[in-house]
Amino acid sequence: MSFILRGLLSGGRAVYPARTPCLLYSSVTPDVRERTLIAVKPDGVQRRLVGEIIKRFERRGFKLVGMKMLQASEAVLGKHYHDLQRKPFYPALIRYMASGPVVAMVWEGHNVVRSSRLMVGETDSSQAKPGTVRGDLSVHISRNIIHASDSVEVAKKEIGLWFHSAELINWETSDHSDLYQV
Ligand code: PPS
Repeated sequence: MSFILRGLLSGGRAVYPARTPCLLYSSVTPDVRERTLIAVKPDGVQRRLVGEIIKRFERRGFKLVGMKMLQASEAVLGKHYHDLQRKPFYPALIRYMASGPVVAMVWEGHNVVRSSRLMVGETDSSQAKPGTVRGDLSVHISRNIIHASDSVEVAKKEIGLWFHSAELINWETSDHSDLYQV
């Protein structure tokens, strides 16, 4: 009989087998360390929107674990957008992304990849809902301010492309751990 079932049969009190650590009340869920790459594109930097974007992610409750401003090289951009090489907009996309500094960030938290995509909004700014970064701050797909990884797997690859592991900081929060209790 599982210890959860035994707990139910004992009137709701959890009964843990000897020497089994209590995982039910762990302060951290397994995917709380999920990470995503967010990049403020050159138009976002030019328009002084870096702070606005950071504010949205901080207020949502995500944790910033890496950040840098850089002029992206064509080599990095070529790898980052490798799958789009045959798209008609590819040359313009690379020119745009290389046209000025980018602020690359790594954010961490529960379901951060999916949540960030929702916060960022549709790729085509004209379809992005109000309340999203693109829906509030941009009007055209070719100047859509921000990049967000579209899956956990892609996020791992993109973070590895844009950051050295030593540039990412593991730090503990001393608050909110109760949010993640199950
Ligand atoms: S596609 O065609 O469905 O594969 O493209 P999509 O996933 O929607 O977007 C992939 C990235 O290409 C950018 N994009 C564009 N840039 C400039 N001009 C045009 N017309 C354009 N269409 C798509 C889009 O913003 C995505 O980049 P990121 O960095 O992920 O936002």
